[in-house]
Amino acid sequence: MFSADRLDPGTRLLLDTVPAPPQTGDLLDLGCGYGPLALVLAARSPRAAVWALDVNRRALGLCERNAARSGLGNVHCVTPDDLGLPTRVAVIWSNPPLRIGKQALHELLARWLGRLTPGGCAYLVVQRHLGADSLHRWLEGEGWPVCRVAARNGYRVLRCGAAAPHPGPDRPGPAPARPGPDLSTDSTPAG
Ligand SMILES: C[S@@+](CC[C@H](N)C(=O)[O-])C[C@H]1O[C@@H](n2cnc3c(N)ncnc32)[C@H](O)[C@@H]1O
Repeated sequence: MFSADRLDPGTRLLLDTVPAPPQTGDLLDLGCGYGPLALVLAARSPRAAVWALDVNRRALGLCERNAARSGLGNVHCVTPDDLGLPTRVAVIWSNPPLRIGKQALHELLARWLGRLTPGGCAYLVVQRHLGADSLHRWLEGEGWPVCRVAARNGYRVLRCGAAAPHPGPDRPGPAPARPGPDLSTDSTPAG
């Protein structure tokens, strides 16, 4: 299980960086693991449907349990072939599975970034030494507008897709640094 004993520093950086997600619509955590990103999405956007996607059923079970413990009824834990998945998502947050290899990662990102709504965007956190800069170049080569929005301790956060709307008086600005759901929730397998 990825980062079973602590919140991954890359995931932490993503959470510290991302602006407030849309309040409604379909939001995707690509490679949800035990659910730290999905749970924050769901807590910050309680009227949105959050799709927590993973190939690992044990991870999905943990994510489901953590969402239930946090009282977040808007998290749907699914595998990539789930028929309920929406064809369009407004936002993707992801600490993607880099270790599946470059080719598989590119296919994975092409598949899910292709579901972004017009104006939607993805936030991806990637370690520099695991290829953040080459991923940045690849995304641009695929025609995505990409911007590095944060860098810390060897991690990069890339925004891919439309730029976040400029916060105005009637729009929420970046999410304040607040804990959201209890991220100390269970990351150990049941049983
Ligand atoms: C780096 S971990 C991130 C986990 C969690 N989001 C976090 O921040 O702690 C990447 C996750 O992607 C999942 N994964 C691997 N291949 C995948 C695929 N093809 N589709 C969806 N998820 C995948 C892994 O099982 C793993 O849980």
